[in-house]
Amino acid sequence: MTGDRIDTTVVHAARRYDYWLGGRDNFAVDRESGDQIAALYPWTPMWARENRAFLGRAVEYLAGEAGIRQFLDVGTGLPTANNVHEVAQRVAPESRVLYVDNDPLVMAHARALLGGSAPGRTQFLESDFLRPDDILSAASRGSVLDLGEPVALMLVALVHLIPDAQDPLAAARTLLDALPSGSYLVMSHGTADFMTADALADVPEFQRLATFQMRTDAEIRPFFEGTELVDPGLVCITDWRSPLPEADRPDPSHVGCYGAVGRKE
Ligand SMILES: C[S@@+](CC[C@H](N)C(=O)[O-])C[C@H]1O[C@@H](n2cnc3c(N)ncnc32)[C@H](O)[C@@H]1O
Repeated sequence: MTGDRIDTTVVHAARRYDYWLGGRDNFAVDRESGDQIAALYPWTPMWARENRAFLGRAVEYLAGEAGIRQFLDVGTGLPTANNVHEVAQRVAPESRVLYVDNDPLVMAHARALLGGSAPGRTQFLESDFLRPDDILSAASRGSVLDLGEPVALMLVALVHLIPDAQDPLAAARTLLDALPSGSYLVMSHGTADFMTADALADVPEFQRLATFQMRTDAEIRPFFEGTELVDPGLVCITDWRSPLPEADRPDPSHVGCYGAVGRKE
């Protein structure tokens, strides 16, 4: 342990993801778990980088073309390159971001995460996605967000960490239902839909090692009910508004992750 609330003996998704991204905010237990998963699916660190790139393109689109100025980023992760507020405020400096994560280490790094943002534009809340009413009441009580105006709800690489038994769809619906029309939902989510038969055989072991639930196209679409999907729809993250020609993008069977942006009607 490195303090009362930071357990270095248990794997944390945020720290393992930080390891795959080449960060330094991780411990031996996280690196071991990251290596075990990468021994099974060696392209996992590439997925993490592609997921960050998807997140960046989605925020650029929202702050640019879509004119969104408020972001509720649930499952923020540890500070890395191109955090949501950095991308959004590069496009529109007045953009405001409320970050939410339930990992105390993310909280401990919040100051670093918020660095560079003008006061009153970016905030951090330690809270749980599975307690959406707590998030909404904190967001509506003197946060940087005005829930009367459109907000982009970001659930990026979060929902696949939550099994059906904990009903992530209900939590996502509660958050989205509280936001006005013209708000957006951004999600990325691991899937086996693009996998080859060989790779499919290892899915149960991957899910066990990563405490992860892959979902299909049909299981992810209900999260977007009541929204209109922005072009190109629900696709492999590397195909979502990629600047690269198709031939230069990574193989979807290795990326294994859907991404989409939907506009609430
Ligand atoms: C893989 S990271 C994704 C970080 C970032 N959204 C991205 O895509 O680059 C997942 C994050 O979700 C957080 N998380 C997991 N379960 C959560 C929950 N129930 N409530 C809030 N955050 C959660 C983890 O602590 C971690 O920081």
